[in-house]
Amino acid sequence: MALEAYLLDWAQMLVRWVHLITGIAWIGSSFYFVWLDNHLEVPPKDPNPRVYGEIWSVHGGGFYHNRKFMTGPGWIPERLHWFKYEAYFTWMSGMGLLALLYWAGASTFMVDPAVMVLEPWQAVAVGAAALLGGWLIYEGLCRTDLVQSGLDFAVIGLVLLGVMAFGLGQVLGGRAAFIHIGAMIGTCMVGNVFFVIIPGQKKMVAAIAQGQEPDPIYGLRGKQRSVHNNYLTLPVLFIMISNHYPMTYSGAWNWAVLMVITVAGMLIRHFFNLKHKGIIKPWLPLTGAALLAGVAVFLYPRPHAPKGPAIVIAPERVTFANVQEIINNRCVSCHAATPSRAAFVTAPAGIKLEEAGDIKRWAGRIHEQAVIRRAMPQGNVTAITEEERALLGAWYLAGAPGK
Ligand code: HEC
Repeated sequence: MALEAYLLDWAQMLVRWVHLITGIAWIGSSFYFVWLDNHLEVPPKDPNPRVYGEIWSVHGGGFYHNRKFMTGPGWIPERLHWFKYEAYFTWMSGMGLLALLYWAGASTFMVDPAVMVLEPWQAVAVGAAALLGGWLIYEGLCRTDLVQSGLDFAVIGLVLLGVMAFGLGQVLGGRAAFIHIGAMIGTCMVGNVFFVIIPGQKKMVAAIAQGQEPDPIYGLRGKQRSVHNNYLTLPVLFIMISNHYPMTYSGAWNWAVLMVITVAGMLIRHFFNLKHKGIIKPWLPLTGAALLAGVAVFLYPRPHAPKGPAIVIAPERVTFANVQEIINNRCVSCHAATPSRAAFVTAPAGIKLEEAGDIKRWAGRIHEQAVIRRAMPQGNVTAITEEERALLGAWYLAGAPGK
């Protein structure tokens, strides 16, 4: 095993670990503050006229009493806690992971010649441009009046996201297209913290320090962006796990699958945000669930009409020896205990296809991934032919014989 690939695997694992931890800290505190805001008792019992709302809670064996001051208490507390490094480290570790996994392994993870024949650097350039471009478009949109109406903004934003997902899907392999859409949304979210929420809070603190009343616009703008982030969390988290589910990203309609699941996530989030305020709208999660069920039905494995004339395999060619030869040529460079491809250290998804017994054991999954979904070989880097796919299919349908 190449030492380099082994070290890269460790680097990826550690960065992924950090990404998960900081992501939990970020999204966790963000969920907590949205929950807090939505549960505030307004007007408060607190006699201080500057207090906008208050809330009591109990956790970990103690009682907490939070009060919200819209533009501060009129003075600056000696110790004021900020929440920003969670977001910054989530983004940095996420970008690190993107670079280590996808950009460094672009020929394996980003380029799919069936989608578009690209040099690895071109694929990386497209991915990076999508991150930057998506963020610029979002920022631009936030500076128009559209941002005043949450619903209008959501609709236009979703249409643009759909265009982006469709566009990337025409250029990059499905898995890379998905993860870049996720990274793009994540970049917008961190941009909100870095460029709007934190600077606005700094301006408010500076005004208070000078004995002035802070301009409430900074608070309002920060709140708007924080609400955007809140609605984006469920979609972004789905996209982060989607790359373990080739069924979601591998079809021609992958961009539509991504959009429908995104909308479902936002509806479910909206339900909880309203529920915090005591408003129960069951149609929101029901619609979300119906959308997910619709995607599940749509993705149910069924043979897609093959492009061009159907390939008929003569029954005498459907032998295990032929199947094993195809698997050896097209799959085993990755799906081996010690893959020969530099990008892999162990068999991807734990699926080894070197032994006859393994091939038989995984026959159903092989059929699904290589014949029906055509998600494997990943990016078709090993150039499997249509005929070979048809032979694998015929073998499986004949009951996956061992001879
Ligand atoms: C370039 C490397 C590569 C090649 C070649 C390759 N695969 Fe994979 N395969 C992967 C990766 C990476 C995953 C794991 C995706 C994930 O993270 O879950 C995977 C996952 C799978 C899975 C599990 C997916 C699931 O969730 O059911 C199956 C089955 C599979 N491959 C079959 C094949 C077959 C059959 C071939 C040959 C026709 C093949 N692969 C060729 C990289 C490869």
